[in-house]
Amino acid sequence: MTLICIASPKGGVGKTTLTANLAYTLQRLGLNVTVIDFDSQDALKLHFGIPVNDAQGYVAPAGVTDWQQLSRSTPSGINVLAYGHTTHEERYAFESMLTNNPEALKKALQGLCKSPGDIVLADLPPGHSVALHALCKLKPLCVTALLADSASLAVLPSVENKSFYPSGVEGQIYYVINQLDLRNELSNDVYGLLKSRLGASLLGAIHRDAAVSEAHAQQISILQYAYTSAVVNDLEIVAHNIMRLLPDALATQTHSRAQQ
Ligand SMILES: Nc1ncnc2c1ncn2[C@@H]1O[C@H](COP(=O)(O)OP(=O)(O)OP(=O)(O)O)[C@@H](O)[C@H]1O
Ligand SMILES: [Mg+2]
Repeated sequence: MTLICIASPKGGVGKTTLTANLAYTLQRLGLNVTVIDFDSQDALKLHFGIPVNDAQGYVAPAGVTDWQQLSRSTPSGINVLAYGHTTHEERYAFESMLTNNPEALKKALQGLCKSPGDIVLADLPPGHSVALHALCKLKPLCVTALLADSASLAVLPSVENKSFYPSGVEGQIYYVINQLDLRNELSNDVYGLLKSRLGASLLGAIHRDAAVSEAHAQQISILQYAYTSAVVNDLEIVAHNIMRLLPDALATQTHSRAQQ
């Protein structure tokens, strides 16, 4: 099972946007992508053309472990498990399942990864969460979104000294710097510092570009909305760096699909 968690100690750094844009980019490279929203804000679906008032999700049907059955195929070809509209009780029951029934979680995710080339991207809520704790037991690739600002610099020690991620994912923690603005001196300086601190665990940086929010407002991918944006090239670099970390069989499968 190939599982990638997109998480951050910080809120509002672009986790959901990065999850969606990476999904589009990895799909273009030939992978069969499913995205799962573990955040009750239920915002991931908006990147895939599912309207805000669409209440359907995978969290509320308690006890259902066949997540493939609950996933929605979208016009992009990416499968989406929206969190859905939920009550407090439904969220509590879901989090209890994540905590107390790790086998059910594993089975549900394995059901989404049946063929070589299948990959699951999980969008996490900001900071610590029950979902992150449960998913880390499955040893995912952890992609940490940070901004090139002083607030992200301040939380870096908590990621580096492993107090943000639960134990078990050491060696699997990677970083993406989002909303990089090289015309801004502070952004530039912090980027330089983060680059030297993070070394090979930095998968890349995504420029700040208003086209990212505009594409979201139009409910289409940045690849469709502004193909010439630097962000598209940045996403390709991050996606290729992720592919290098995936099992060989997946990379081979992807290569042959992309050539078709
Ligand atoms: N590269 C970028 N350039 C410009 N704007 C961006 C970029 N990435 C994200 N944004 C904008 O930043 C805002 C926050 O993004 P997003 O909702 O993805 O963050 P988040 O980390 O998922 O937030 P939360 O912690 O609430 O889940 C959005 O308005 C989004 O359009
Ligand atoms: Mg989010």
